[in-house]
Amino acid sequence: MSSTVTFDGAPPPGTINLGVGQPSADLLPVELMRKASEAFYRKATPIELNYGVTAGDERFLHSLAGYLSTGYRAPVNAESLFVTGGNSQALDLVSSIFAKPCDTVFVEEPSYFLAFQIFRDRGLNIVGIPIDDQGIRIDCLEEELRKHKPAFLYTVPSYHNPGGQCLSEERRRRILELSRQHDFLIVADEVYQLLSYYESPPPAFGTYCNSGPVLSLGSFSKILAPGLRLGWIQTSENLRQLLLSNGFINSGGSINHYTSHIVRHAIDDGLLTAHVSLLKNAYRSRVEAMETALLEHFGDIAQWNRPDGGYFFWLSLARSTDTAAIKELANEHQTGFQPGAVFSSCGELNSFLRLSFAHYSEEEITEGVARLRPLFG
Ligand SMILES: Cc1ncc(COP(=O)(O)O)c(C=O)c1O
Repeated sequence: MSSTVTFDGAPPPGTINLGVGQPSADLLPVELMRKASEAFYRKATPIELNYGVTAGDERFLHSLAGYLSTGYRAPVNAESLFVTGGNSQALDLVSSIFAKPCDTVFVEEPSYFLAFQIFRDRGLNIVGIPIDDQGIRIDCLEEELRKHKPAFLYTVPSYHNPGGQCLSEERRRRILELSRQHDFLIVADEVYQLLSYYESPPPAFGTYCNSGPVLSLGSFSKILAPGLRLGWIQTSENLRQLLLSNGFINSGGSINHYTSHIVRHAIDDGLLTAHVSLLKNAYRSRVEAMETALLEHFGDIAQWNRPDGGYFFWLSLARSTDTAAIKELANEHQTGFQPGAVFSSCGELNSFLRLSFAHYSEEEITEGVARLRPLFG
């Protein structure tokens, strides 16, 4: 048995794989977690290790509501929150509660590719809605609504994966109107909402959860650590009741109850706020390193918009290119990226590629982009 600690998709030593969309080890807060755990154990009582109340520990929900109210610059009620095991688990739960096999769901084209698998595992049919630099194209959404009755629309509204852009406030409001008119849910994956490096993004969909059928999914994966498997859903009282009446929740109680105690201390002691501010500084420098390297090496063959938050640059190549075929070649050159086609719900977007700046230092990003360039002719 190997004794190496690793993760799925870990690049071999020496490789700079800009396809990896995970934080680098130096940004994973071991010391913070040690302090928060010590704070928890100083006062821990046995009952805290029992099953948790189904929506989540009330103290945690209050701490989280306070944190989100500051982050969203809008009041968030503890009663609108429901604890999850992160957005992947929340997507699976939402697919099982709010849709049934053979239902249609709308996704953005492109979109977060692993969500496709979650929806397909649940037997859902996926229909892609094109996006532009302001997010979902409303004309295309309206056209598809004439043909389908979706159970929900899945969107990554802020600092899109892979596109990097934000859905404009005007379009958020229009989508809300359409959801009420056509009776579909908005499943907003707000995993990058709190990771802005320049100006703030438009208001989180969570802030609209009493104005329409909205489920806003949030996670500690990008602001603390993916291994915690902790997140939340913010929604209206009606929809929250449907989440609470689920058999899985009733049997197991609050999801990831134990970790929520530790994270409560991280919030209450100001550790999370300090960490997110450190992350923003680190990622801003990495965005700038990647932008500089791209201008030097890809300026003549590709187009992109610098993302103001999140993890990703999304490049459109000027010439039609099969980026999936080049990906194989990239391994041999100790570099890597994600080809556009994986983000397409219908096997298109071949001439695009996604680069992440989250997993490497500025120097490595500069070197990784330089290694990539010769592969594109
Ligand atoms: C858009 C999007 N949603 C969900 C996830 C996964 O979230 P979690 O770790 O909370 O399951 C990611 C991770 O890359 C993501 O980019």
